[in-house]
Amino acid sequence: MVPDGFDVMETPMQATANPVSVEELIARQQAGFTLEQPFYRDPEIFKRDMQKIVNKQWLYVAHVSEIPNAGDYLLYNIADESIILIRGRDGEVRAFFNVCRHRGSHICLEQQGNAKTLTCPYHAWVFDLRGKLIAARGMPADFDKSKFPLHACQVRASHGLIFICLAKEDDEGILDFAEIASDLDQYAALHRIDDTRIVHREVYPTDANWKLVVDNFMECYHCSPSHPEYTMVNAYVKAEDRERGSYDATISAWEETTRALGHPVGTDYGAGKSIRQPHGYWRQPIRDGYVTLSEDGKAVAPLLGDVKHWDGGETAFTFGPLSHAYLCADHLCMFRFTPVTPEFSEVVVTWHVKADAAEGQDYDLDRLKWMWDVTTIEDTRIINDNQKGVNSSRYEPGPYAPQEGGSSTLTSWYLERLSG
Ligand code: FES
Ligand SMILES: [Fe+2]
Repeated sequence: MVPDGFDVMETPMQATANPVSVEELIARQQAGFTLEQPFYRDPEIFKRDMQKIVNKQWLYVAHVSEIPNAGDYLLYNIADESIILIRGRDGEVRAFFNVCRHRGSHICLEQQGNAKTLTCPYHAWVFDLRGKLIAARGMPADFDKSKFPLHACQVRASHGLIFICLAKEDDEGILDFAEIASDLDQYAALHRIDDTRIVHREVYPTDANWKLVVDNFMECYHCSPSHPEYTMVNAYVKAEDRERGSYDATISAWEETTRALGHPVGTDYGAGKSIRQPHGYWRQPIRDGYVTLSEDGKAVAPLLGDVKHWDGGETAFTFGPLSHAYLCADHLCMFRFTPVTPEFSEVVVTWHVKADAAEGQDYDLDRLKWMWDVTTIEDTRIINDNQKGVNSSRYEPGPYAPQEGGSSTLTSWYLERLSG
């Protein structure tokens, strides 16, 4: 189910405008350290984050199964933007800015639904599913409707995952979407993730700047102290805590048997791979005797797509800072991080199983969602506490640990993009 807008109960406290310029802040930022306070609070920097970074990313928005029929639509709200994702009569998925070409009202008000046309509730201008203005009551006879179509938003789909990009097509600095599609071609084709459906969706409202959400997701230095469940299931956490790289031998051995099954192996976790949009993936064994990310290590749903063997592995995808996936042999979890205000972000996790799997028979929802629900609840708490500390007059940037390489690299990427 798509949530009703964002659950922002109170206006977050805003930092007063910083007397130091953003350029100065960027210039004095120490490499390998977290950011200065204004980067996590200042409304002007948030605006700049949106313009220079977020708006240029391919953002995962929805799975094709969420809008299966002609006229099905859903809204994706991010900061000041609202995007209508809608399936046309020709089966194509299109995206439009939810802004009427008359006087600018939002057109769609429901988070999801089915529409024959897009009719603005204000003065009832009517747009078709391709965004063309088809009726404008009471306008002069010579009014040229063709000049007022809805503003289209870039949209791409790969393996059933729909991404949008808020920037204009000819804007500079946008990743060629083929790069993201290629990661999916290599590592998700076998699982046929297009042929899944969402059986659970959870929204985790997070009182923190989007960069604290991303920073947290990009490192597992916090896993042993903050995620007892994730640490119990994922053997790599303790191994990496003991000694960096000490899980590599286990991965190599597993890769050999996994390759023999005809399953993909490999890691290219490109946090720094693309200056435009860092993306990448890794595959690794979960833990001896575990076939999926579940509490007891046993299957939680039928094997996905064309997977014939339980290889005991997990695949993580980063499509960019705000869009991630964790894929197992029997289920997929999609992670969507959305900046809303400088100190509020929305985290949405969806759980996908094979499209024809039946609840109670083929899967048990509690067992299925256990790993990422318990982990994301913990993450929300630690991220909120992080923002609270960052807001203190005594906060100053701290050094990233070697195990936080992902976050550190992403912070450098962020600064480079922000200053460019
Ligand atoms: S603002 Fe949409 S019809 Fe007037
Ligand atoms: Fe975490």
